[in-house]
Amino acid sequence: EEGARALLEAHCLEIGDVLPGIINILIHGQLNGAQIDYVPPPVTSLRVRQPAHKVSSEYIAKYNKATEIMRNLPPSDPRNFMQQANIHALYCDGPDGDKDGLGKYIQFLVHNSWLFFPFHRWYVYFYEKILGNLIGDPNFALPFWNWDHPDGMQIPDMYTDESSALYDLNRSTAHQPPTTVDLDYHNGKAPKPREEQVDDNLYGVMYKNMVSGAKLPLLFFGSPYREGSTTTPGSIEKHPHNCVHIWTGHEITPQTPLGEDMGAFYSAGRDPIFFAHHANVDRMWNIWKTLDGPKRKDITKPDFLDFSFVFYDEHAQLVRVKIRDCLNTEVLGYVYEKVELPWLKERG
Ligand code: C2O
Repeated sequence: EEGARALLEAHCLEIGDVLPGIINILIHGQLNGAQIDYVPPPVTSLRVRQPAHKVSSEYIAKYNKATEIMRNLPPSDPRNFMQQANIHALYCDGPDGDKDGLGKYIQFLVHNSWLFFPFHRWYVYFYEKILGNLIGDPNFALPFWNWDHPDGMQIPDMYTDESSALYDLNRSTAHQPPTTVDLDYHNGKAPKPREEQVDDNLYGVMYKNMVSGAKLPLLFFGSPYREGSTTTPGSIEKHPHNCVHIWTGHEITPQTPLGEDMGAFYSAGRDPIFFAHHANVDRMWNIWKTLDGPKRKDITKPDFLDFSFVFYDEHAQLVRVKIRDCLNTEVLGYVYEKVELPWLKERG
């Protein structure tokens, strides 16, 4: 076991030698003392996350610029684009797609349980703050990939411009626009006519995983993350979250054996579209709490609320955050633009 941990640490350091604070916690289960306990700053104005298919060209230029600066930061800076992707990799199954089976020695994993929503909320939060900081715009907000609305059911155009910092080569060649996203996709599934696909997405996937199949907190969030018990993912994590990852990633080839980038945990953050995808997943958490039903409320168990993660903030400072501090996005300084929810209405 000690040997495995040492090997895992060596692998992690290869890809993330600037992330020792995170590596320490994930492999050795201890903080290195350099972290501060993060308190969200007082909110003076709210950042508004907009649907990616509706933003202005000025907005796209700004987002592109910020991402370009992030890509060009030295690799020794934890705010560098690849290091940000590595943070996600470290919290998933290690830096290399778990090829050597060492992922199980990581102290905790953030998928397939109730850690899923809060981990990704904090991760995307700091990513957004870093982008805003790099362009001197504290009001900068990420876009969300509005895949739950027919108008947003394809890869948003801003990500397909090959000259843009938002472009990623490792994406499915078959799923370029205007191909309609399949929110229930699995590898090899045959495409359907647009109308049928939209209907399946709205009623087969969205209604089911937000409304009829998610009436209780643990169904929506996923099972508790506790020593010795196996876990199951929440409804939205499974579909559409996982499906959109696989649908977006490249077909399996010798160069992309795991469906990189979006199709594998270790590489998903290397595609800028990850953050628009996760903004929409995060938006579902906010929306779910507003739907009818007495039990559509956040989990109140102390071992959930007190669970913590570490990240690097926009000043490259190692910070520790708690789940209890991320339940309300307005306290974190952001909201989602309100758009129509077609899956909530009667089938047309
Ligand atoms: Cu941590 Cu969408 O995955």
